[in-house]
Amino acid sequence: MTFAAATSCAPALQAWCFAISPADAAAQCARILPIFSDSARRHMLKLAERMGRAKPSAIMLVAEKAKKLKAEGRDIISFSIGVPNFLPGDHVYAAVKDALAKDSGQYGSNRGADALLDAFLAHLEKAGLTGFSRKNIATGIGAKHVLYNLAEALLDPGDTLVFPTPYWTSYLDIADIVDAKVRLLPCPAEQNYKLTPAQLDAALPGAKVFLFNNPSNPTGMVYTPDEVAALAEVLVRHPNVWIITDDIYHRMVFDGVGYKNFIQCRPELRERTIFVDSLSKTYGMPGWRVGFMAGPEAVAQALVNLNSNHITNVPEIVTAAAIAALTGPQDVPAQKNVEFQSKRDQVLAMLDSIPGVKCPRPQGAFYVFPDISCAFGKSHSGKKIENDVDFCNALLDAKGVACVPGSAFGEPKALRISYTCPTAQLPEGLKRFREFFAELA
Ligand SMILES: Cc1ncc(COP(=O)(O)O)c(C=O)c1O
Repeated sequence: MTFAAATSCAPALQAWCFAISPADAAAQCARILPIFSDSARRHMLKLAERMGRAKPSAIMLVAEKAKKLKAEGRDIISFSIGVPNFLPGDHVYAAVKDALAKDSGQYGSNRGADALLDAFLAHLEKAGLTGFSRKNIATGIGAKHVLYNLAEALLDPGDTLVFPTPYWTSYLDIADIVDAKVRLLPCPAEQNYKLTPAQLDAALPGAKVFLFNNPSNPTGMVYTPDEVAALAEVLVRHPNVWIITDDIYHRMVFDGVGYKNFIQCRPELRERTIFVDSLSKTYGMPGWRVGFMAGPEAVAQALVNLNSNHITNVPEIVTAAAIAALTGPQDVPAQKNVEFQSKRDQVLAMLDSIPGVKCPRPQGAFYVFPDISCAFGKSHSGKKIENDVDFCNALLDAKGVACVPGSAFGEPKALRISYTCPTAQLPEGLKRFREFFAELA
């Protein structure tokens, strides 16, 4: 009901409630409403305070600008949005058709359908994460939703959340919404964008949650098994800290580096570690919105309770697609890994040819995160480039190449290149990027 409708029915309500004549009620309302309406309007029209802290994603803003230029007829090559840009295998679509034919149309389980939980458990085992049961799992509408729910479940207002910089943008935004304090651990290009054990040790006293992302968005860096083990040693010494490992890119690792999780290094961390995963990147299914967590039963149950009040369930048709992706042939993700590794090599070769650009070698996901601060203070086409945002704007305007400024990820000396564009476009985009640098004065 609108405010106007609510106030205009007040005389009728008073007459009904207090058994007075409609004329008397109308007279009373005429006296009361002006006072009531001012304070009510102030009260009723205010958004919750937390919404002042909720910001739209900076990555989406760049993608939107690139889209708009494209719609205006500009030739745009997008290195901006972090989508894998491929579709899942045919078996996924076959499973969807089958599920449509058998659709129950009913609500589903708040935790996730049993068959989906079992498929995820088998997927975990393939990653070397054994010993979980259905009670350790919860599903959600993508990893973003799972991470949001984890923030709700683990962080009270004022609690401290610790994570390294550069970070995936939504970590900061989610922390802001739940009113957590954030302790950022700077990991610049000089330290390969990786957290050291000493940094972690110094940051954990007083923290409630440590959030770790491996392989990383935006840097594409992968912690070696030895590096993960060294961080796990530190975590053991801080028993009051929950650990969230956002490992949604764990199947996208190159150069034979291998993937390890903290609980494989120190099994005692299992009682407070929550592993987060998603179908979005590995299976080319970002729009299908399926995410998971595996962790302590109490945490999984908390997320199930949140689901029961938010989403109820991952939809039945999507569930069928997810089961097919997890349990069916794995050739599409495997082929894509080979393709991404080759694209990573092309991007690095281009960046290596630009004097002054520093770029630690990423070994996973589909991102490269060069430090382009050598361009600051220079100009392009008469436009001064003071920072990463100026750089990305000038690059998009002059060359039609869209990248995301590093400040969106807490590192203003860099920018992110997401290299999943069609294979044929990549050399052209890289050529334009190099030309842009060569034209700086
Ligand atoms: C590190 C990281 N975590 C979580 C997500 C969210 O993934 P989903 O599509 O499953 O919500 C993303 C998406 O870009 C990401 O890069």
